[in-house]
Amino acid sequence: MSPRPRRILFGVSGGIAAYKAPDILHGWVKLGFEVETVLTEAAEQFVSPLALSTLSKRRIWRERDFLSAEYGWQIPHISLTDWADLFVIAPCTANVLRAAAQGDGSTLLGAALLANTKPLLLFPAMNSKMLASGPVRENIRILEERGAEIVDPDSGLLACGYEGKGRMPSAAVINDYVLRALCDKKDFAGMRVAVTAGPTHEYIDPVRFISNPSSGKMGYAIAEEAWRRGAEVTLITGPSALRRPAGLEVVEVVSAQDMYQACMKSAETADVIVKAAAVGDYRAAERSEQKIKRGGKDTLTLELVQNPDIAAELGRRKRPGQLLIGFAAETQNVLENAQKKMSEKNLDMIVSNDVLAPGAGFAVDTNAITIMARGAEPLRFSGTKEESAAVILDSVSALAAGR
Ligand SMILES: Cc1cc2nc3c(=O)[nH]c(=O)nc-3n(C[C@H](O)[C@H](O)[C@H](O)COP(=O)(O)O)c2cc1C
Repeated sequence: MSPRPRRILFGVSGGIAAYKAPDILHGWVKLGFEVETVLTEAAEQFVSPLALSTLSKRRIWRERDFLSAEYGWQIPHISLTDWADLFVIAPCTANVLRAAAQGDGSTLLGAALLANTKPLLLFPAMNSKMLASGPVRENIRILEERGAEIVDPDSGLLACGYEGKGRMPSAAVINDYVLRALCDKKDFAGMRVAVTAGPTHEYIDPVRFISNPSSGKMGYAIAEEAWRRGAEVTLITGPSALRRPAGLEVVEVVSAQDMYQACMKSAETADVIVKAAAVGDYRAAERSEQKIKRGGKDTLTLELVQNPDIAAELGRRKRPGQLLIGFAAETQNVLENAQKKMSEKNLDMIVSNDVLAPGAGFAVDTNAITIMARGAEPLRFSGTKEESAAVILDSVSALAAGR
């Protein structure tokens, strides 16, 4: 039997950022979640109930439905919170923070907050002076103390014309937090995980570099999944067009030498290091200060020198209990080469993929992998990079449990 869809109770209050509510809701519906929406009276001035009910394919709960004989028999504030797995309020006004902190049950949203026993995720959004005000700070502190997760607003140009902190994060960032709140597995709680991702750029002159087609998708998917499962995550990323996921510490690097430095620093505190980046093995022996010109020559010879072997050095420096996970992108003798790399570099696990196989490897959304872990049978898996990330982390978790 497939599990039932996850259920979100979506509170929308009367801030200007309510105009983003349909976009947020649409993202959840596309992921297969069921969404019930409660609008405050003020929110109706900023966003259309019709848009939200069309996208959620459900009726919208409005203030006039609260003390209404029409719905009294199902007591909306009780039945909605009983039904939900997660209660999200985005945007959350200063007024709703007050109602939540003080237990003001005089509105439908306020009463639902009182009746709620499910995880509560709030996205305050308001003018920066309101956000910095004593009552708002105090209400946020009270709610955090009671276990609510309150996501810090973004900084930037606010609708009121002020520049500062108070913007609601994008729908994509809100979704990152929602997926984490809905993730029941927390087997990485209390662990520090460092993940490398993407390619490196080895510059030969100011405008040209040697690289590879790595998009960073696999490493980013692992970093995000580890974060959802409770880890504190550092993502060390080479140049990548992917959106930087919320909640992670992101360290941006360009060359293999930069990546080496960043890895050695993270390794000092990491419990798990996952090396999913496609790091250049070689760099130009000399980087030209000026753009290399044609100069009438038919050929150009570049001398390359080896980059430091990050995995091998991490293997040498490995602390007791630290887990080091490598990736092997191979084009031949996949398993044999992966096994060799694992023992030579003192890895605890290696994920190998045949980058020439259809639907696997660089810059595609799917992967076909074989996981070889110390003391375990090889495990083969094909699926999306998100699914592969979950399977890889299951193996890491099993290794960590047996440390
Ligand atoms: C144009 C306009 C924009 C507003 N934007 C915000 C906002 O972004 N955040 C906020 O906390 N209040 C904002 N307010 C004030 C709220 O609308 C007001 O406090 C209202 O009572 C909130 O009701 P609710 O919390 O029940 O939705 C705004 C008011 C106006 C007139």
